[in-house]
Amino acid sequence: MSDPLISLTAVRRRFPGAEVDTLAGVDLTVATGERLAVVGPSGSGKSTLLFVMGLLDTPTSGSVALGGRDVGTLDDAARAALRREHLGFVFQDHHLLPQATALENVLVPWFADGRPNAAARDRARDLLTRLGLGDRLDHRPEALSTGQRQRVAVARALVRRPRLVLADEPTGSLDRARARELVDLLTRLQDDVAVVVVTHDPEVAAAFPRTLRLVDGRLADAAVAG
Ligand SMILES: Nc1ncnc2c1ncn2[C@@H]1O[C@H](COP(=O)(O)OP(=O)(O)O)[C@@H](O)[C@H]1O
Ligand SMILES: [Mg+2]
Repeated sequence: MSDPLISLTAVRRRFPGAEVDTLAGVDLTVATGERLAVVGPSGSGKSTLLFVMGLLDTPTSGSVALGGRDVGTLDDAARAALRREHLGFVFQDHHLLPQATALENVLVPWFADGRPNAAARDRARDLLTRLGLGDRLDHRPEALSTGQRQRVAVARALVRRPRLVLADEPTGSLDRARARELVDLLTRLQDDVAVVVVTHDPEVAAAFPRTLRLVDGRLADAAVAG
């Protein structure tokens, strides 16, 4: 495998009060530029896995390394900085700020580090334009369709040129045609951007060259698991 970007080793996650591990020993390496789909039924731990990969949740045990660095050794601020710099997250529910315009929403990942500069604004405008929202820059989420909101969320995930895009059921709220467009977009990102999508939609998974299935808190080869 080429250059590993993110590696999970024996990752276990048990939520407080739960009697079973949601993640029960996950080993996974995603290479630079790799495109991966993770499937599994509702409640199988897909979002938990993505949150751990996105440094938004901490495993109960096991380790996560991003770019060869064990993130478990970092404090919250360092982890957050790493997340902002290298990761883009597309949530199932777009999580846009209702009071902000499409353009401002895309720029949100920059605000944590101060005001976005002109280059960041240009990139945000350019992304929205490429996603067919060039005439919607100043619209608030309420004035956008579901598909348009999800595209704003994708632009926000891409604005800082992440090395890894994590998408949690990104097509869940879209109709078939819009879902295909979004999958097309995610699978055609620049070659060096890795993408991990979790989905329960077999058609979405089929668009990705590698598919794994979450079963009983562990990852299995989707082809073998059926
Ligand atoms: N914040 C949480 N607190 C307690 N239990 C949780 C939490 N998040 C997820 N779980 C539990 O972990 C399991 C997997 O959830 P999740 O990762 O959301 O699955 P999926 O995304 O595949 O539907 C579920 O049983 C859920 O109840
Ligand atoms: Mg989920």
